[in-house]
Amino acid sequence: MSGIAVLAIDGPSASGKGSVAQRVADALGFAYLDSGALYRLSALAAKQAGVVWSDELGVACIAAALDVRFEVGLTLLNGRDVSAQIRSEEIGVGASQIAAFAVVRQALLARQRDFALAPGLVADGRDMGSVVFPQAELKIYLTASAKVRAERRYAQLIGRGDAADLAAITHDLQERDARDAARAEAPLRQWPDALLLETSDLSLDQVVEQVISWWKTRS
Ligand code: CDP
Ligand code: CDP
Repeated sequence: MSGIAVLAIDGPSASGKGSVAQRVADALGFAYLDSGALYRLSALAAKQAGVVWSDELGVACIAAALDVRFEVGLTLLNGRDVSAQIRSEEIGVGASQIAAFAVVRQALLARQRDFALAPGLVADGRDMGSVVFPQAELKIYLTASAKVRAERRYAQLIGRGDAADLAAITHDLQERDARDAARAEAPLRQWPDALLLETSDLSLDQVVEQVISWWKTRS
């Protein structure tokens, strides 16, 4: 892992981390880690195995043994495409519940670090800069107001042809924010070594441009 350039992007749900990180990784020719997908996959795999999300050891065993493959535009669990399934709000809520358990986080740690390959990695999540890649050369805390984030998630779901209810999304998002920030293990927050990027009034292109500019001028 050492010697590999890492750009860490952390932030709350629907702040744009995934979209921004993927584009920045493409622009820089770096690998991309969507760490949230690993929590979502663990929640889905537990559900499929009949393990309840409150069973921390049961879920940790499932997380440690995940048979997952990321291909262009596809996420495969046990060889089956679950790309759409892991993006549901239900699985997002489950991911946030199991992510509060230290044993589950530990079970996913080495797997996340394995993504750091030459020439570099852009990683997004909640604890990329604080726990998984504390040595990252650039750490960014990406955020937007809760209202803007709920509207973004709503538009994303509708755009995919999914049913969506703005009030329910706003409620889930606030609960998830609170759980991610309050947990003892790897809580979501802007740490002092991360640059703040408030994106409520910025387009995706503007955000990507700013991140690449910070990367190019990093000290
Ligand atoms: O897309 P969204 O930002 O809503 O969520 P995600 O990044 O796919 O992550 C799903 C859940 O996994 C989050 O609500 C977090 O609780 C958890 N997570 C985490 O704890 N640490 C990470 N590095 C990434 C995700
Ligand atoms: O990964 P995270 O949950 O933080 O957010 P995302 O799934 O990447 O982004 C949520 C939606 O907001 C996507 O449809 C983006 O295109 C859109 N969006 C954005 O990410 N950034 C902006 N400045 C404006 C819109």
